[in-house]
Amino acid sequence: MYYLTYRPHTIEEIDNVTPRESIKKILESKSLPHAFLFVGQKGTGKTSTARIVAKSLNCIARKSVEPCNVCANCKSIDASSFPDVLEMDAASNRGINEVKNLIKESSFLPIAGNYRVFIIDEAHMITSDGFNALLKTLEEPPSTVIFILATTNPEKVPKTIMSRCVNVIFGKAKKEELLHMLHRIVTLEKLKVEPAVLDLISHHADGSFRDAAKLLEELVLQHKLEMGDVLGYLGVRSKESLLLSLHTKEAPQALAWIEEFANAGGSFKNLIEELLSQLHDLLLAKHKIGEGHPELTFSLPEITLLMKLFTEAYVSMRNSPIESIPLEIAVVEFYNKRVSK
Ligand SMILES: Nc1ncnc2c1ncn2[C@@H]1O[C@H](COP(=O)(O)OP(=O)(O)O)[C@@H](O)[C@H]1O
Ligand SMILES: [Mg+2]
Ligand SMILES: [Zn+2]
Repeated sequence: MYYLTYRPHTIEEIDNVTPRESIKKILESKSLPHAFLFVGQKGTGKTSTARIVAKSLNCIARKSVEPCNVCANCKSIDASSFPDVLEMDAASNRGINEVKNLIKESSFLPIAGNYRVFIIDEAHMITSDGFNALLKTLEEPPSTVIFILATTNPEKVPKTIMSRCVNVIFGKAKKEELLHMLHRIVTLEKLKVEPAVLDLISHHADGSFRDAAKLLEELVLQHKLEMGDVLGYLGVRSKESLLLSLHTKEAPQALAWIEEFANAGGSFKNLIEELLSQLHDLLLAKHKIGEGHPELTFSLPEITLLMKLFTEAYVSMRNSPIESIPLEIAVVEFYNKRVSK
């Protein structure tokens, strides 16, 4: 699978600029922090980067801060069989006993490498007892131990823990960063893909490298790499134009749009998601946040009405015998309610 094959294995391959540069600086500096907190949404490289750091610290053949990826230590870290690198998922091991075990483990000297590295995923799930126990260790950790905490919900990590960690912000992947990764895959897989298609994929990946890689792979497997096919697949075929129809035209045209969309085999789920995301932009733009879409000048009540109707349509789609019906109802109601105002 692309997203596993093309997981970054070196610092250089980390496609998001901010974490790449900060990790590089930290590893190059003389004093290594004993605890990191990686903050960012899913699929932004927290786990991959944690393993790169673990390899960099334990690589036998390393010449710079980059791990060599071929020595016995690097290989065994990649295979998750290195005795000094321990990964724990705090979503399923959140209690005081699990944390105490970990702390006990951290008191042992490294067996095969230079550092024992503890990677704690979903760290915000640790219970408050667990955090309290961990806090003591973070205050005075053994010099050969590095903790890497990763979280998607930093607001749930106690301030006391945060302040003892070097925070590395992964955030959301930017469009150019996603494109950079997609280009890497396209080149190595020798694919022929139009730039506009890659643009569209990065737009639909919602800031996640993993989602972008998966979407590209889906399109490849389905032989849908032509722009027209991709638009149909994503259900965004003339996505502006349904909103534009609603804005400038009457009900029959909007219903015809939906009919045509259904005939072309578009996905209504994706379509409604896309419509809501656009309305969301419009709503924010009305409040002077973000840019909106200049061609769509809906009023605020129209925007909220559409959001409400589309959300209802989205929910009822699951129980609808004909996929297009919930959206058709939403559209008809929109015209009725707008007229009756
Ligand atoms: N910074 C990145 N650069 C390139 N690809 C990435 C990056 N981060 C994630 N990926 C892709 O997404 C997948 C999931 O990454 P992972 O490190 O597990 O993210 P997280 O732990 O933040 O959910 C990787 O296997 C890789 O394909
Ligand atoms: Mg992860
Ligand atoms: Zn190595």
